[in-house]
Amino acid sequence: MRIGIVGLGVVGLATGVVLAEQGHKIIGVDIDQNKVKGLECKRSPIYEPGLQEMLERYFHNFTFTTDYGLLSDTDLVFITVSTPTIDGKIYLGYVFDAAKRLGDVLKRNDTIVVIKSTVVPGTARKVKEIVKNDVVSNPEFLREGRAILDTKNPDRIVIGSENKEPGDLVENLWKFTNAPVIRTTWEEAEMIKYAANSFLAVKISFINEIANVCEKLKDCDVTVVAKAIGMDKRISPYFLNAGIGWGGSCFPKDTQAIVSFARDLGEELKIVEAAIKVNNERINRVISMLKGFIKEGNVCVLGVAFKPNTDDTRESVAIKLIKTLKSEGYKVVAYDPKAKADEAEMVGLDECIRIADAVIIATEWDEFKGLEEKLRGKFVIDGRRILDPSKMEKGKFKAIGLGE
Ligand code: UGA
Repeated sequence: MRIGIVGLGVVGLATGVVLAEQGHKIIGVDIDQNKVKGLECKRSPIYEPGLQEMLERYFHNFTFTTDYGLLSDTDLVFITVSTPTIDGKIYLGYVFDAAKRLGDVLKRNDTIVVIKSTVVPGTARKVKEIVKNDVVSNPEFLREGRAILDTKNPDRIVIGSENKEPGDLVENLWKFTNAPVIRTTWEEAEMIKYAANSFLAVKISFINEIANVCEKLKDCDVTVVAKAIGMDKRISPYFLNAGIGWGGSCFPKDTQAIVSFARDLGEELKIVEAAIKVNNERINRVISMLKGFIKEGNVCVLGVAFKPNTDDTRESVAIKLIKTLKSEGYKVVAYDPKAKADEAEMVGLDECIRIADAVIIATEWDEFKGLEEKLRGKFVIDGRRILDPSKMEKGKFKAIGLGE
């Protein structure tokens, strides 16, 4: 098929390379000229495992452009533009702009417009009014750092459509994944995405609150508690890692967006609101742990990306931590294997540890596992529970969810 992709962020690019591997011709459109120029030279604008290699391998199936006109004769166009939260509410301007431009250029009335961007319920209906062509809602559940793996092996494919045939076409497109398919209405598909992200955020905030209590107890470790409760199939072991909080380009904006969307409908999402509140308090807990060690001095923050295996720092808790540390008068140096932060002086790993009085692990990169020996002599706070407490010095080590 000839497939258009509007918006070349992580979702657009992962969708593109995976479908290019299946032999489809992909026309990738973005308004960012530099991004398009880089992609024309086979350069991925982001770090995501496997993305650069896939881009090079299937480059013959790609056209990158800023010109929507090249989408005129496509079988299907994915909208994968960003949907930021501005002043606590979802901003859908990029989605509607894309829809308007598609409405102008699409020559065939059988080109299907597929919305992959995370959008509040009712959006597909509005996009249909703009483009006139069939619209399918096909939300994305990939995680950054695993974008290609998740796109090839999703847990499920959700397809929301008004009419059966366009939904069938999208279902066929993803058949190679062998994932179970849920056919839904537009609104259900849109709601599923928010319910999924909110639930995951709630799950993490829940274990983070349990971690708070564990810290107050003698001989109590939240990782053991999480492991045991996760063995209950009804709970499952995933997204139960206590830490300094959830960040990234999705959970913070999506939880806020759905809370305000619900509120506009006269409903309160009290549990999601509580999860946000718990998350906002995470950094202060780390700061008070640090103050228990030192009130001033050099702090090395290990990890600035919002999670491992990405160079993405959007809404990264590590960056918020760096800002708070600086406002509290600490001197901050940081190291990350892939990501950069303007907020701190970025140095090498050894250098970062050497100059530090205290080290805080903020992102659980594999590279930071097994650092126990190197950290001897320093105050250490394990914000992501990757160090072995039994190998750490007594009186100089604290960890999220670990009692005295
Ligand atoms: C999230 C969802 O997991 C995806 O299913 C969804 O498609 C995506 O948002 C999206 O809406 O596009 P992502 O933001 O890439 O994916 O990253 P996650 O792996 O979900 O991590 C989010 C945050 O939660 C990170 O800051 C991570 O460190 C934190 N986290 C995750 C924890 O603190 N504990 C955990 O157990 C898991």
